[in-house]
Amino acid sequence: METLIPTINRLQEVFLTVGAEIIQLPQIVVVGSQSSGKSSVLESLVGRDFLPRGLGIVTRRPLVLQLINVAPLKERLKLDIGVKAEEWGTFLHCKNQIFSDFQEICREIEAETERTSGDNKGISPEPIYLKIFSPKVLNLTLVDLPGITKVPVGDQPEDIEAQVQEMILSFISNPNSLILAVSPANSDLATTDALKLAREVDPDGRRTLLVVSKLDLMDAGTDALEVLLGRVIPVRLGIIGVVNRSQHDINIQKSLENSLKDEQAFLQRHYPSLASRAGSRYLAKTLSKLLMHHIRECLPDLKTRVTMLSAQYQARLNSYGQPVEDQSATLLQIVTKFASDYCNTIEGTARHIQTSELCGGARMCY
Ligand code: GDP
Ligand code: NA
Ligand code: MG
Repeated sequence: METLIPTINRLQEVFLTVGAEIIQLPQIVVVGSQSSGKSSVLESLVGRDFLPRGLGIVTRRPLVLQLINVAPLKERLKLDIGVKAEEWGTFLHCKNQIFSDFQEICREIEAETERTSGDNKGISPEPIYLKIFSPKVLNLTLVDLPGITKVPVGDQPEDIEAQVQEMILSFISNPNSLILAVSPANSDLATTDALKLAREVDPDGRRTLLVVSKLDLMDAGTDALEVLLGRVIPVRLGIIGVVNRSQHDINIQKSLENSLKDEQAFLQRHYPSLASRAGSRYLAKTLSKLLMHHIRECLPDLKTRVTMLSAQYQARLNSYGQPVEDQSATLLQIVTKFASDYCNTIEGTARHIQTSELCGGARMCY
């Protein structure tokens, strides 16, 4: 994801310069059964430990996680602006509090979950809104959702299954949502609710990726090769196997970095033919490509806008007759030219992204 950051930042400069709406990247929503590994997958995408994970129903309210790219602390200190931390988070429900400790962010998510959903497994459709500011993230929205459950436990109502489904559908029916359907390798893919729900809102599979988690937990003598090759259920945008941290790993606070290393080693050992097309890093890369593809589709509009503004300012400049009489008009012209050059550069960059790698050139329908 990090390679996309400079491109997005440059593009957003252009957008600001020409006064256009900033590119709206698709929001990424995870869907799957309870404890399939949704929160773990999101966390590895962000690259930081801060989401409550664990056995049973842990995520009990939607978490809308807005990542915001900021300049590194060094640069901000020079300009004497912003928060004096490299990375930090804020919540909508306590706007003025700055969380620079990610463990505290995790605790606040748990506390806020309990505030509306109680401490006995109740769920609530009311989202928690969290913003994470960091030089290492893309401007992107991720949504963590409670898992699909069948049987009510604790304070859950009789119709818990229907309630959760409705909550999930309300997020994934947004055509600007990219759906990460998470299905554990140790349960039957054919019966996975994640894909079933995704199909309801995305029947052509134009915005659904399948993530097969828990590759390490399959019965001895079985593997997920057929599933990962798409021979069981084909998924247009791709099927990516991952190994997240186990509960034991969480208990001993295994770092994300070590987990990624072990994941690669596992894949090399068990799926050598697929190792380069599996794993959390590959998932992040695939998402980057999908996002880049989306950005590329936004470029023609941006270019039209820049050209139009450029013509407008040129006309205004001409109407002044005398050169350099109006300094602000000249300035505008320079800025517009600058934006137009930028736009061309970025379009060039985007053209280099090979759409052929996008699973046979499948088009996203944003
Ligand atoms: P969620 O309920 O779908 O959000 O799932 P979580 O991310 O909270 O994970 C549920 C449990 O499964 C946790 O104890 C994780 O440690 C464990 N888990 C998730 N993914 C994997 C995996 O790939 N391998 C192993 N061994 N455990 C996993
Ligand atoms: Na869980
Ligand atoms: Mg969860």
